[in-house]
Amino acid sequence: MKIHRRNFLLGTAALASSLSGLSKMTMANVPLRPLPILPLTNLIKDFDDRVVLKLLRSTHDFGNGIASKTLGINRSYLGPLLRVKKGHTLPLNVFNDIGEISTLHWHGLHIPGAVDGGPHQQIETGDTWSPDLEIEQRASLNWFHSHAHGKTAKQVYKGLTGVMLVEDDESLSADLPHTYGVDDFTIILQDKTFNEFGFLSYNLTENSIDEGLIGETLVVNGTIAPVMQMVPKGLIRLRILNASNANYYKLSLAHGTLNVIASDGGFLASTVQTDDLLMSPGERYEILVDMKKIQNNQLIVEHELPELGGIRGLIRELWTDGEIKIAALTLKTGDDYGFDGSIPNKLANLSVPNRTVASRVRSFQLQQYTGVDLAALALASDNFCGNGNAMKINGRSMNMQRIDETVNKGDTEIWRVSVDDWRHPFHIHGCSFRILSQEGAQPPAYAQGWKDMVNVDGEKWSEVLVSFNHYAPKDTPYMYHCHILEHEDCGMMGQFTVT
Ligand code: C2O
Ligand code: CU
Ligand code: CU
Repeated sequence: MKIHRRNFLLGTAALASSLSGLSKMTMANVPLRPLPILPLTNLIKDFDDRVVLKLLRSTHDFGNGIASKTLGINRSYLGPLLRVKKGHTLPLNVFNDIGEISTLHWHGLHIPGAVDGGPHQQIETGDTWSPDLEIEQRASLNWFHSHAHGKTAKQVYKGLTGVMLVEDDESLSADLPHTYGVDDFTIILQDKTFNEFGFLSYNLTENSIDEGLIGETLVVNGTIAPVMQMVPKGLIRLRILNASNANYYKLSLAHGTLNVIASDGGFLASTVQTDDLLMSPGERYEILVDMKKIQNNQLIVEHELPELGGIRGLIRELWTDGEIKIAALTLKTGDDYGFDGSIPNKLANLSVPNRTVASRVRSFQLQQYTGVDLAALALASDNFCGNGNAMKINGRSMNMQRIDETVNKGDTEIWRVSVDDWRHPFHIHGCSFRILSQEGAQPPAYAQGWKDMVNVDGEKWSEVLVSFNHYAPKDTPYMYHCHILEHEDCGMMGQFTVT
């Protein structure tokens, strides 16, 4: 078994070496590409027809001048930003034109299993799926992505991802920056691999099945970082999604602390100031950057690099520790003045999670190592894990025909998760939860609000308190899984009903 690099998460050693290694930081002398602004589809106003999302095949230039083969949603890569409001119903036509089966899952939405878009709601190529989504939850940054069983990793990597911003009366009237593309930006972070000719490549190997696909190149809203955005003097709001297949991102600012105001499920109780923040795949965080008095600031992203074999790998490993730190997004102020409110203290009323209301405890052990030869699997895989049986939860790989857990609608439960090795971001469909403990300890303050992702690292239990308020019958069950997409495709996923 290969040795996993764990120093990224273990802290001190890695931190010290990355502080001393500022030369590792790619910053100066790199031409800054403009930050792409995701096209906004504002569905808060009235609209008559069903909203069309077309999954399509395309080519896309990530900024290196090369047209790579991609998938997109209404565009060449990624999808639009859908802005919807709590209390509204969103009628969608999802048309699949990618040449193979796909699905579109609404990650973070509290909606019934029948419209959840998981692996059971397959859309054949050439077909249209027409769910009506009743938006009942508080303001939050959610997202949508392919969940085609065994093909999720590749389809998401190629571009089948978009964001859905839910607003409510509180968020619309909050004293926060709110002008899209001016002081309010949605940022999708991903890492990619480009081959020697500059084409986007997706290549499953023993390593990229084992760790999930880690890319060497950070991409922001579909453009290779670093990118730059002019902003007015004032507060700037960044709504950030980690939509990587597998990589974790450690975020910080070049100047000042991060002011975290929201997590996956919406506003935190109050602003959390932190020097850095760790984002697993699937997580969302909103931060405020105070640009009143400074001319520029950078969002710094530290992430892992793919493992290289041989002497090249050894040299890079010595130089970088297998990690890279990049000033991904530069914000620069001009002469204009923008939102001049201050960073709020209190944001929302969140109760303290009360574990005694749970009616039962369920345990999930995520199993990365089951004896399957990942090198052989990679050779045989044709770049997707198929209905892989390489990874498991509680001794069983995902099986579309098997329901693993049955939950009573309206119940609140504690779900506790541990892993056999390494780190795995665990996700539950159709709900938000509160983290009671993470790896046996208190989660960081920024992870104490509403979440639908919990990072599980090591053998100590991570526990969440979760209520199930929507139906998911056995023909359209919900999923729970590791959000490292190669692990999910390899079987680290299970199904549950809510009835
Ligand atoms: Cu983001 Cu089951 O998915
Ligand atoms: Cu989900
Ligand atoms: Cu995993």
